[in-house]
Amino acid sequence: MSENSFMKKSKTNKPWQLRPEDLSAIEAMASFLPEKFYDIHAHWYRKADLNAPENSFWNSGPEIAGHEQWEDYTQQLLPKASLLGGLFFPAPLPYVNLSAANQFLFDELEKSTLSRGLMLVKPETSQKELELGLSHANLVGFKPYHVYSTETPTPHSGITGFLPEPIWASAHENRAVIMLHIMKDKALLDPQNCEDIRRLCLKYPNVRLILAHCGRSFHALHAEGAKFLNSIPNIWFDMSGICEMQAILPILKHFGPEKLMFGTDFPVSQIRGKCVSIGNGFIWLDENNCNWDQAWSKPTLVGLESLNALKEAANNFGLDKSDLDLIFWGNAMHLLGLNEYSSPTNQSYYKHAKTIIPGGTQLLSKRPENMAPTHWPPYFKKASGCEIWDLDGKHFYDFSTNAVGSCILGYAHPEINKAIIKKVNLGNMCSLNPPEEVALADKLCEIHPWAEQARFVRGGGEACAVAVRIARATTGKDKIALCGYHGWQDWYLAANLGENDALKGHLLPGLSPDGVPDALRNTSFPFKFNDLEAFQEIIDQQPDLAAVIMEPCRYEDPAPGFLEAIRDITKKNGIVLIMDEITVGWRLHFGGMHLKYGIKPDMAVFAKALGNGYPTGAIIGTKAAMEGANRSFISSTYWTESLGPVAALATIAEMEKQDVQKAIKHSGRQVQHILQTTAVNENLPIKVKGFPALTSFSFDHPESEMLRTIFTQQMLSKGFLAGTAFYPTLAHNEKIIGLYHQALAETFGYLRVVIKENSFDKWPKEETAHSGFSRLL
Ligand SMILES: Cc1ncc(COP(=O)(O)O)c(C=O)c1O
Repeated sequence: MSENSFMKKSKTNKPWQLRPEDLSAIEAMASFLPEKFYDIHAHWYRKADLNAPENSFWNSGPEIAGHEQWEDYTQQLLPKASLLGGLFFPAPLPYVNLSAANQFLFDELEKSTLSRGLMLVKPETSQKELELGLSHANLVGFKPYHVYSTETPTPHSGITGFLPEPIWASAHENRAVIMLHIMKDKALLDPQNCEDIRRLCLKYPNVRLILAHCGRSFHALHAEGAKFLNSIPNIWFDMSGICEMQAILPILKHFGPEKLMFGTDFPVSQIRGKCVSIGNGFIWLDENNCNWDQAWSKPTLVGLESLNALKEAANNFGLDKSDLDLIFWGNAMHLLGLNEYSSPTNQSYYKHAKTIIPGGTQLLSKRPENMAPTHWPPYFKKASGCEIWDLDGKHFYDFSTNAVGSCILGYAHPEINKAIIKKVNLGNMCSLNPPEEVALADKLCEIHPWAEQARFVRGGGEACAVAVRIARATTGKDKIALCGYHGWQDWYLAANLGENDALKGHLLPGLSPDGVPDALRNTSFPFKFNDLEAFQEIIDQQPDLAAVIMEPCRYEDPAPGFLEAIRDITKKNGIVLIMDEITVGWRLHFGGMHLKYGIKPDMAVFAKALGNGYPTGAIIGTKAAMEGANRSFISSTYWTESLGPVAALATIAEMEKQDVQKAIKHSGRQVQHILQTTAVNENLPIKVKGFPALTSFSFDHPESEMLRTIFTQQMLSKGFLAGTAFYPTLAHNEKIIGLYHQALAETFGYLRVVIKENSFDKWPKEETAHSGFSRLL
């Protein structure tokens, strides 16, 4: 139901009939029109019950507009569609005969097996009347409307003015649907509206709330308010009456295509005109309030304008056929319990993945078994800030490693996405090179004055492998000393070709060198961080070292003189010193920790945070160290796409605007403090370690792995992705950290009881989280 001025009867034209301009609009959209349709927002009424003003639009149509009429007129707009049914309710006019209008609805519902109804309610509708209404077959909820509000003027009414709490409570008790048309000047952007919706949806979680007209975003920009509500599971949107794609895009962005539904608002779909945003508000242009002689077009039907808006939004957002099936019928039927999604659920999909993808995933640390087997959600649908919606649509705050440390600005950061979208629109890849890589080389050399050149790849392990190859080419030597984890490639795993697990203690124990040529035995030599003696031993025993590759730090600062000594020794011996800044760089210090420690390496490598979620990797170095890159063949097709350097430039620009490192250090400190104090309160034996921006903790207990598993399971049940490592992002604000604190306190309390009662055998051993590589095979 829409507002005021358009509801005038046409004087010049016969309404409710298609005209040539409608037919050509339908033809232009032919390939977009759905094959099935379930109308989530439509009215059934009898003129006689409406008591509408004489010249009102409502009086211009048929005497009776029930199931049959809806079907006739809607079929005209959607000629290819099989009309499955709809969610219908009376027309909420100020002087409607409410009980007669509801009775007409109840009667009509009997004519369509798949259709459902909402009874029209007023604030004063009694509990008894609500119960009685719900007892009618296929009556599934309530339709309130502002014209009945106790708050006047009603267009400015708050939600509870026309939908008081007793109606919410009844809807909750009966698992009912509410179709809510919010009011006030800014509708979905009005803070009080958002606060009321949040409070009431959380208090009455069984209510399925449909925010009509994209949250009444007739002024399209108001739809951006959807971002304040997207963690609430029981909200859906219909886009009936919406004629501008700008009102649809924020709903898609913040809620995804699974929460949007197309509706006609029949008979509003039959109005000739369009609702347009203007100034801070909107206007319904119709046949009577606009001088069409001056226009270059004739008005078509609102229903067609709506379809066109969805078509534009679909093209803009990249919706495919399966998304549109959801929007045209799937979501509505799912919401009303009329069908089940056939999409795979998290755990079943992963089970299948393991049969078709060796290892199940492409990254060891994203295997759910690492966290909490059969509980940790393997897949996501949507991610934003530090929030994730899994494949089943469940919402989580991410207090794990936030994409293995790659997204320090937060997921789907608007500025990075803006730069990416522009490049996608202009073309990401072609036969020529992206100029952004030159700008990025300049930028990295500016930030690292010791460096003179750069090469680019698309990942961290690749960056290390390229750096090692260049160092070998430059020095003409083969062997590598290393400290830390540097990726999956042969040169690194060669260190484990000896008798022992030489890479144990460098992040991952048990890395199998299967598939690495035995000829690489004795080519890579690990040494422990801060163990200068071990390093010196390698230098003494291996005269033909090409490079030393190491993280400048990982869990702690280097001991005084450690890095300086390595710099000194490598220089004296003609060895290329490579700083691996893939995890610590940008996160702990802008540009990398070697800058903070005042060390000038010969090369440095970056990835992860440099692209804030987009694949990128960089190798920078002095001209002398990089010399071998001119001779060695180092070349790959997708290293020439644009998004990597575009994302890196945008991410650096964002980090130059604000002190990201300071902000995430602060959040990390807060979480470390929360972990420590909560553990003391609950008398839990934990050890917190690491830089605040790379926080981790462990349970100091013989059942530590089981405690870690139970911890993660409990946190998941409270809506948090949490393990024993937390890599903060810019999106982890005080409020979200507060929610984590609350969940953590409850979880630690639970663990205290488990330890006290020694009730570990309640958890199957096979559900224990895995650690290291070998246990995952
Ligand atoms: C220090 C370091 N180097 C290299 C890598 C490998 O990077 P990627 O996983 O992007 O290949 C990692 C990944 O964790 C890392 O922490």
